[in-house]
Amino acid sequence: MNYTFKNKNNPKLRKIDHCLVTHKVSLMRSVNTGTKEFREYTTEIAHILGYEALRDLPTVPTEIVTPLQKTIQNLIIKDSVVLLPILRAGLGMQDGLLTLLPTAAVGYIGMYRDHDTSLPNEYYFKAPELNGRVALILDPMLATGGSICASISLIKKHNPSQIKVLSIVSAPKGIDNILNTHQDVEIYTAAIDDGLNEHNYIVPGLGDAGDRLFGTK
Ligand code: PRP
Ligand code: URA
Repeated sequence: MNYTFKNKNNPKLRKIDHCLVTHKVSLMRSVNTGTKEFREYTTEIAHILGYEALRDLPTVPTEIVTPLQKTIQNLIIKDSVVLLPILRAGLGMQDGLLTLLPTAAVGYIGMYRDHDTSLPNEYYFKAPELNGRVALILDPMLATGGSICASISLIKKHNPSQIKVLSIVSAPKGIDNILNTHQDVEIYTAAIDDGLNEHNYIVPGLGDAGDRLFGTK
């Protein structure tokens, strides 16, 4: 696991340093955390990551009439964001983002990691118009980065204005893989772990996020 983390101080990497986030991720990691609580923590952390990632959304000056007078205030441009959960585990983050942006359009990327090679395989893609919109890729686990890198390449063909990745637990190697390949992408993560084990699972990690969210084994 001797690995030199190259993009640790890259400004495109935003690790959310907040005791509430650390607390919730720590509880998600525990083998004693059941499906219900695991889902709740995933939603809550996704909400906080979204709050950070959506900080600089494009706004438009708009006339608002208060009880006292007319005023020009900035409102977020309608339809400026598309949420893109990677199936399956990214689905667990969808509701956390929708509470922030209830009218956001949502597309789905079907991507699974081959058990033997750890390489991503795309099996589904259905997305709303992406041209000129901010694309938020949702996946709680960024391990080798293969699944997210493949998703970014796929999405780039549809000309979004910006791509942001929201991941709960990330490995240095996966972060490097993304930021070395796609310098224009931002990563928001709740934790950066030690590394990957011989099966390319994040350690200490939290195990298989899809299995824990959906009760499969
Ligand atoms: C997991 C996870 C990521 C991917 C991360 O999905 O949700 O998509 O692995 O690994 P990587 O960074 O090395 O590509 P998985 O393929 O297990 O699919 P699932 O969510 O359907 O279980
Ligand atoms: N996918 C997961 O769900 N967990 C890991 O640690 C790696 C890939």
